[in-house]
Amino acid sequence: MPLIEWTPALVLGIKSIDDQHRQLVESFNALRQKQDVGQGCAAEDLVERLKTFAAEHFHIEEGYMQAFGYPDAAAHLREHEDFLAAVARFESACAEGSANADGVLGFLETWIGGHLAGADRRLGRYLEDYLR
Ligand SMILES: [Fe+2]
Repeated sequence: MPLIEWTPALVLGIKSIDDQHRQLVESFNALRQKQDVGQGCAAEDLVERLKTFAAEHFHIEEGYMQAFGYPDAAAHLREHEDFLAAVARFESACAEGSANADGVLGFLETWIGGHLAGADRRLGRYLEDYLR
């Protein structure tokens, strides 16, 4: 499965968030590469890194939403929950030795591209006035 490429479509233009998104993409790609050689489930450190990093990063975005009264926060938070739930599903799939782990990574790949280019760019446009 292809890795996520860092493209202009994923850039918000707010450096602190963009830097975190690049790290999120890198963390995902590292796990993806392990999965491609059948070692995704063995890479517990990478799963942990992805989970911890995503949770910290979401928390920062959610702090901005709260601080600046972002009107679409509830829907955005639900997307973040979907991501964390999928990482938990990946761990469960691995624990069960199920073949679903690959499908979950496919979901996460689609999620990252869609969320960064969609919900996060909308948030970025809203935050422009406050953070630039
Ligand atoms: Fe987000």
